[in-house]
Amino acid sequence: MRTLQMMGWIAMLGVLALSCFSSRTESQKETAATERVDPETRAMQLMQANCFTCHNPDLEIELRIAPPMFKIRDHYIDDTIRRESFVRQIVDFVNDPTEERAVMYGAIRNFGLMPRQQFNQRDLKLIAEYLYDNDVSSDAWYAKWDSFQKRQVPQQMNFSGYEEMGLQLANGTKAQLGSRLLGAIQSKGTAGAVSFCNIEALPLTDSMSKVFQASIRRVSDKPRNPANSANSRELSTMLKWKGQMEAGEPMSPVTFEKDGMVVGHYPIMTSAMCMQCHGQPGTQILQQTQDALSKLYPADQAKGYGPNQLRGIFVVEMSKREKDK
Ligand code: HEC
Ligand code: HEC
Repeated sequence: MRTLQMMGWIAMLGVLALSCFSSRTESQKETAATERVDPETRAMQLMQANCFTCHNPDLEIELRIAPPMFKIRDHYIDDTIRRESFVRQIVDFVNDPTEERAVMYGAIRNFGLMPRQQFNQRDLKLIAEYLYDNDVSSDAWYAKWDSFQKRQVPQQMNFSGYEEMGLQLANGTKAQLGSRLLGAIQSKGTAGAVSFCNIEALPLTDSMSKVFQASIRRVSDKPRNPANSANSRELSTMLKWKGQMEAGEPMSPVTFEKDGMVVGHYPIMTSAMCMQCHGQPGTQILQQTQDALSKLYPADQAKGYGPNQLRGIFVVEMSKREKDK
């Protein structure tokens, strides 16, 4: 149980690595397209980008890394609580998640305390108000959420819209991959799980990837699978980001057009959980895992990493919609 918690939390750190990246790019264009949409859509967009990576409303998700949002609402709301105090409690907890403030002890036991993250305060307040006003456990809400997911794509979409959409696709893939990996490690052990760090088997089923006929690849400057070798453009993105990380600067977003497609690059960072297959051979990568890896990947370069390093990039390709051409 303890390792499960730990790995869940560590997987979240991976999510965080990407979400840090997202919040930076988001704030830069905050004034643009998103401001024009109605408040309800705006709130859903904000929750999708900031909270649902962990508090996923999809109940069928295999390995949860946090309670779904409606459970949180249930714990905070009652007949007597005033809107302002509900909002303040949510905002205060998210800004400073501590056990003293928390009320969901079972969730803390199962998932560990929510990690501290940076959120835009105005957005956070909007999310909390939305949660007070809307019963996110009702069928009516799920119907709205469903139509939101279908609707939001064809909205007016400028170039920066592609960047955000690519980020969501990368985030979604990352979350699916993470839970599949964790599940496999738990049931088969690390050596048995080596065939699960692969995105080929992951269907990009959501509506956005269909509308944009999006595809997603993972590449690296030190690939395990030679088929995942970064090309020169991808290598230069990695080089730039490594330089920015060293200088303590944010990694700048990369999107460009190629053959009528919009291509986005998104960082893949290591967390402690990756070390058992990408860390130091002998100490972190156990012999049994090493044997399984050598058999499948004789030219493996993807070893010797530490946590929080740039392991590779997600390359998301989206076809431009007619009206943007
Ligand atoms: C990286 C994963 C992650 C993200 C992103 C995240 N949370 Fe959480 N959150 C958790 C986990 C795990 C818990 C359960 C443990 C706990 O209660 O601290 C939690 C619990 C909570 C709780 C209940 C705290 C308690 O125990 O009383 C609230 C409220 C909350 N989250 C709000 C939010 C909101 C609002 C957002 C989006 C702005 C958000 N969270 C984004 C992981 C996350
Ligand atoms: C159970 C072992 C295992 C774990 C744990 C693991 N990986 Fe992998 N990883 C692999 C294998 C095997 C491949 C080769 C997959 C393929 O053939 O495409 C791979 C490939 C990759 C690739 C594609 C580039 C390449 O080197 O071929 C990236 C990026 C990657 N892993 C990142 C991560 C990150 C980030 C983590 C931690 C969140 C992680 N991996 C955890 C085994 C693992």
